Amino acid sequence: MTLAHPQFDSDGALRHFLDLDGVSRETLTTILDTAEGFAPIGERKVRTVPLLRGRTVANLFFENSTRTRTAFELAAKRLSADVLNIDLVSSSTAKGESLLDTLRVLESLQCDMFIVRHSQSGAARFIAQHIAPGIAVVNGGDGQHAHPTQGLLDMFTIRRHKGDFSQLTVVLIGDIRHSRVARSDLAALKILGAGEVRVVGPRTLVPADAEALGARFVPRLDDALQGADVIMGLRLQRERMNGAKVPSSAEFFRHFGLSAERLSLAKPDAIVMHPGPTNRGVEIAGDVADGKQSVILEQVTAGLAVRMAVMSMVLGSHTSNRVESHQAPGVGP
Ligand code: CP
Repeated sequence: MTLAHPQFDSDGALRHFLDLDGVSRETLTTILDTAEGFAPIGERKVRTVPLLRGRTVANLFFENSTRTRTAFELAAKRLSADVLNIDLVSSSTAKGESLLDTLRVLESLQCDMFIVRHSQSGAARFIAQHIAPGIAVVNGGDGQHAHPTQGLLDMFTIRRHKGDFSQLTVVLIGDIRHSRVARSDLAALKILGAGEVRVVGPRTLVPADAEALGARFVPRLDDALQGADVIMGLRLQRERMNGAKVPSSAEFFRHFGLSAERLSLAKPDAIVMHPGPTNRGVEIAGDVADGKQSVILEQVTAGLAVRMAVMSMVLGSHTSNRVESHQAPGVGP
């Protein structure tokens, strides 16, 4: 028996947002289109819309974050939701309270949505399966499994610069194996029908199932970069490695670091991406991270509109507040 994915309602609408499994091209495109509707709000003097007024979003980050946590907080505030940032260091989880008991407390405080980041793969799904009906869970990154809103904001950024995915050559460099971002990007690129996806890195850091993920393994970076439209650097996820998988940062940069010289092997209008945090001089040279082909900070800004889209669509599916048209209400001049 196949169990239904818990992120979908019986009518196929998103009730949680946990990963990109089972998400159709139509749904993914609708999220990106909805985010495009929200993006101009950031350019206004008054950067709020009343879509989630009266709703409460709790940020539950069991692992460090700068971009994801702040973007979710700001996105929720732009939708006029109340936001709780639970400080898990000073919360009662530090006194031994179990995860489920902490969840029961937050349920009792009448939260509508939990944004969850956790070091364990599957944590967001576990919470979604144990949470009271009517509360939505959005995955802010779980172990090395998935970081679906990062995947979406990366697709949003690529689409803005390049349009049609079917014509694109996309290269992911470095620690693919331990990267939840890489998994979500590969899933999204497959759903959107990217022309060619290449992964390059030390064999110890590239998963054996790269082809099943829709990517071709290329051993040498210089070969992988030939004709590339989109280049994505990834941080070495040392916190998820069992033992040394790379000899040293300097040696990694020598073989797999994105330098200006290497970047010249890609198409002249190739864009350089990185989910952050970046380690300059390890996976990417500082002048490339700051260079004119870099869209790294655009990715961060895209995270606001994309998370507004995800939160409004998911919370909308719980109530009569549903965003049937998946347009961004209140968006206008
Ligand atoms: N890209 C990303 O997840 O960054 P943070 O760890 O800062 O949230």
